[in-house]
Amino acid sequence: PNMRGFSPGERRYVRAKLLRWYDKRNRFFPWRGESDPYRVWVSEVMLQQTRTDTVAERYPRFVSRFPTLKSLADAPLEAVLSEWEGLGYYNRARNLHRAARIIAESRQGNLPADKKSLNVLPGFGPYIAGAVSSIAFGERAAAMDGNFVRVLSRLLDISEPVDMPAVKVALESEAETLVPPSRPGDFNQAMMDLGATICLPRNPRCQACPLSRHCSALAGGTAMTRPIKTKKKAPPPGVTVFQLWAESQNSIRLVRREEKGLFGGMWELPGLMMDGRPLQPDNKTLAHLCQSALGPGWRPGKVIARLTRTLTHRKILFVVLSTVKKKGIPNNNKKKTSPNEKSIWAGAADIEALPLPTAQRAVIQAARDALPGDQENLFD
Ligand code: ADE
Repeated sequence: PNMRGFSPGERRYVRAKLLRWYDKRNRFFPWRGESDPYRVWVSEVMLQQTRTDTVAERYPRFVSRFPTLKSLADAPLEAVLSEWEGLGYYNRARNLHRAARIIAESRQGNLPADKKSLNVLPGFGPYIAGAVSSIAFGERAAAMDGNFVRVLSRLLDISEPVDMPAVKVALESEAETLVPPSRPGDFNQAMMDLGATICLPRNPRCQACPLSRHCSALAGGTAMTRPIKTKKKAPPPGVTVFQLWAESQNSIRLVRREEKGLFGGMWELPGLMMDGRPLQPDNKTLAHLCQSALGPGWRPGKVIARLTRTLTHRKILFVVLSTVKKKGIPNNNKKKTSPNEKSIWAGAADIEALPLPTAQRAVIQAARDALPGDQENLFD
């Protein structure tokens, strides 16, 4: 790529100025000053796709429930997913759990200390591996998040798309030599903080920036236009999810999703997904769904709620149908759920305790709002 690099003098300047700024302006977060590699790891996994103010609330709760790597490895996946609820991107929690089990079994619970060995564990990539090795172990390694990339793309005034593979590689290698041998973790976090508070995406506050003297984009008047990215992909086509609202003895029917895949192991209303336009499934399909999810004697009723959600760019239309049970069909509400149970009748306390995707909680709320008053006792 057509890209300049830092001179040794510039590197010295950037490191010294940035660390001095960081020492004065250091934002306070619950994970700052933490040196337990396990806790640094948890915080960085959360921070990778969740806003810092949300993580500041949720990280302390997570590490007080799972205070050590071993306690996380010993916990059932469902408990970890429950604690992760609302943070989204649940594969992060699944990978965290999987990697904790690997590390507990094969390394007595000790995380590897270097970026290269960390990088091969489930859920790790150059960013998390760099963050953990530099922050927790003091290894000289870059942890390049979106903020870091933006700062770098401006300092060097990079005119090519930063998400192009060749440019990415060049950026990574420039970042690795920019990170200083001493205080690498602070340096990485200083780049993130600078990007989050000064070197902002749309309105960079260059007059307050400690690095403005060596910023090529500022000098060239291009700061606002950096970083350049290739055009966004078209959003994936929408889907419609039909779900059944079945009620019996103050409980509703919930089913557990497959362990593998999106929202694996989490609970939801029984239903089916259809690609594309919201066509109603045919009556036979609906009748069959009712029987298999609820048992003989149940049949589909009316549409009681519709709502749309966007999940990782994909638009989802939820359509909730009521169900009716034929007279004389006995209730078979077994309340207890074993770890392998695939469906239950869930009361208000179960619904609260089980891991449900946030969208499912909204769907349940919408159905409940749509139902007549005599159903309200279900969620008192
Ligand atoms: N974003 C990702 N990691 C971070 C950290 N350690 N501090 C602040 N923001 C971050």
